[in-house]
Amino acid sequence: MSHGFKITAALWDKIHHFASFPQTGVSLQQMVLFGQNPSQGTLLKASQFLSEELPVRLAHRVKELDELPHNLSAMPSIERVKNWYAQSFDELIQFPPLPTLSPDIRRLLFSPPSVASSNPEHQLPSSTPNPSLEHMLLVDDIANKNFPTSLDGSGSSGSLASGSMGFYGGVNGSTSGWAIGNGNGNGNGNGNGNGNGAAVEGFNKLKLRVPMERRLISIQTQIIFHSDWRNRYYAAPLSANISWPPEVPDYNKRFTKMLETIKTRHDPTVTTVAQGVLEWKRSQRARHIGLDMQQWLDRFYLSRIGIRFLIGQHIALNTQESHRDYVGIICTNANVHDIIEEAIENARFVCEEHYALFSSPPVQLICPNNLTFPYVPGHLSHIIFELLKNSLRAVVERHGVGNEDNFPPIKVIVVEGKEDITIKISDEGGGIPRSAMGLIWTYMYTTMKLGPGEGLDEGFRDSDFKAPMAGFGYGLPLSRLYARYFGGDLRLISMDGFGTDVYIHLNRLSSSREPLP
Ligand SMILES: Nc1ncnc2c1ncn2[C@@H]1O[C@H](COP(=O)(O)OP(=O)(O)O)[C@@H](O)[C@H]1O
Ligand SMILES: [Mg+2]
Repeated sequence: MSHGFKITAALWDKIHHFASFPQTGVSLQQMVLFGQNPSQGTLLKASQFLSEELPVRLAHRVKELDELPHNLSAMPSIERVKNWYAQSFDELIQFPPLPTLSPDIRRLLFSPPSVASSNPEHQLPSSTPNPSLEHMLLVDDIANKNFPTSLDGSGSSGSLASGSMGFYGGVNGSTSGWAIGNGNGNGNGNGNGNGNGAAVEGFNKLKLRVPMERRLISIQTQIIFHSDWRNRYYAAPLSANISWPPEVPDYNKRFTKMLETIKTRHDPTVTTVAQGVLEWKRSQRARHIGLDMQQWLDRFYLSRIGIRFLIGQHIALNTQESHRDYVGIICTNANVHDIIEEAIENARFVCEEHYALFSSPPVQLICPNNLTFPYVPGHLSHIIFELLKNSLRAVVERHGVGNEDNFPPIKVIVVEGKEDITIKISDEGGGIPRSAMGLIWTYMYTTMKLGPGEGLDEGFRDSDFKAPMAGFGYGLPLSRLYARYFGGDLRLISMDGFGTDVYIHLNRLSSSREPLP
């Protein structure tokens, strides 16, 4: 475990270096197309992508955790989380490189993107940003748009430098030679990773992208970059008919194992950060958290959803039997009706247990039986479950436990539009006063009174998905992040004195790129 893990000065240097690179977003659609029947070579390319992308994402978080305002960084729980992130970062960058492969295999793995992209079949579709997040400062989205090139040969022409997709050219100067061509033109290319045919060192050793500062210089010198590649996920998948040497599956296995360890280490992150905020609130005697902290938590948790999705997807692709309806953890035919129905049952069950009811308020579902779209079912059921618990609680508390036979039903209506699938949950639970509307999206805002032994410290452990009826004030803000992560959104409208309508918008085209805080 990470107990006692210390960030050395040398590690800090690396963290700062990696944190100067922008993160790369992917879309659900790209993941699906990439991960269908993956060959060992394709999985290796995915490992390559992750062995560069995950350290970048983790480094951003470590740096941020270290620089939080109002002395929040000094809270013991925040420190613990920071050390987990740093330790995982360290493990990723220390991971033993791929052994030397034959030139033929290397050519297959690391062939230039220009070859792959000339054939539209080998191209993954581009992705789009989430329109609901325009107000949120997604630094990397901007960075990626403006500075979409990388270290190898970010130089002269400004065209898509052949090495620029770290995950294509994960190898130093990639021995296939393609990384060399347009490199070093104006001195911005800086030589790092431009091995010019140097021996393969493995992609963990590399610095493939141009750090932010350098990119700024490039922009100042009016270099126009190719603006498309950052919209793409991994390289296009590789053919299944190649016979890969044993080093390749072996590498994939070891890499997956490391990811499993990392994923488990971070299981208690949400609760530990929440504890950190509680520690801070106690130390400051604050009742609510400020806007800056709220925004940080939103960005931090959103980033965590992304990191865990990438890791979870990779582990699943490497370990699961192939299944007709699944690509990793993405269900290509997620049945909206069935997912909601199950969430209704679960929420009603929790409600009945909590209030000791024989029967919780009824829930009516109006949804086409055959409506399916590609999604991660766990994310959708989490959202619906949380929202239903809120509605059930509101109805029970407004109408009284004794009114069991006359609870007004909660209505769940699902419609399919051109871009979105929208789910509306309407309850007659009395609504929310307008004066409280500003607070409902803040973490830890709750009107539930918890008894002794029911608090965060005791009850809310290890998993985001096993929440009790209510009381932690994480239901709404986290559900909104899950909705937004894949290009959707969550909105709530209340009629004070009557009830609440919640709208869940889901991007049915799944072309939306991950938001990267
Ligand atoms: N459907 C609803 N009707 C009335 N109040 C609601 C509803 N949904 C949420 N709220 C209010 O918003 C608060 C925050 O909700 P949430 O983030 O899910 O946290 P929790 O359920 O743990 O309190 C709730 O405590 C409640 O006061
Ligand atoms: Mg709730």
